[in-house]
Amino acid sequence: MMRILVFPNASLAARAAAQFVSRTLTTRPAAVLGLPTGRTMIPVYRQIAALHERGRCSFRRAQTFNLDEFLGLRPGDAGSFCTFMRQHLFDRVDMVPGRAHFPDADGREPGAYDDRIVRAGGMDLCLLGIGLNGHLGFNEPAARLSARTHRVRLLPSTRRANAYLFRNLARVPKYAVSMGMATILNARSVVLLATGGDKAGIVRRALAGPLTTRVPASLIQTHPNALVVLDRAAASGLLRGRSTSR
Ligand code: GLP
Repeated sequence: MMRILVFPNASLAARAAAQFVSRTLTTRPAAVLGLPTGRTMIPVYRQIAALHERGRCSFRRAQTFNLDEFLGLRPGDAGSFCTFMRQHLFDRVDMVPGRAHFPDADGREPGAYDDRIVRAGGMDLCLLGIGLNGHLGFNEPAARLSARTHRVRLLPSTRRANAYLFRNLARVPKYAVSMGMATILNARSVVLLATGGDKAGIVRRALAGPLTTRVPASLIQTHPNALVVLDRAAASGLLRGRSTSR
């Protein structure tokens, strides 16, 4: 079942997503979380850090698995998702370094990441953003999608969308390692957050359109326990769709 919550603005939507993560950690201190990067998540991680500061949540016993990482970067490289996570979340909470996992950036045995997730007990909650082209993690639109963690060639539009992490576009790696669609959808619950008017079109295609590998996020419709958190701008395509073509 997919539930959709719409908030008046992006910061209230981010707060709701942060509270959801925090509540998961309260009810299950040893929770296994799947975590994304992306600009949408920056305010979410800020809110989680604020909740931690007020003693409302702890990562001490949790384990986290990031959805993806650029191929060939070292964990300490400025543009890596590992650096992003440290800056925006891990350094601001009580995360135990060995309990924060990332796909191996050498991409040699990507499937081993799925085994690590299974050994940890599987993900209780996977937090998700959505790319402008409908990607989840780095599962790019294609005729076929991969089930397990795999190496991906990034589309030019995705490299442009990630250029903010690097000094210029040429430095954005061309390849990455990403959890696969089954890796993500095997999480016991998923929370997808999208904010801003530029996501309205893709949110509509993902949530109200047909299931298609051309919009990987559309597969979230099949998840038994999915929560979608939107601000009004990102939801505007859904609401418009209801009064006109649907
Ligand atoms: C990146 C990440 C995704 C994320 C997406 C959206 O490419 N690999 O996991 O959901 O971008 O990013 P943003 O929030 O910046 O729009």
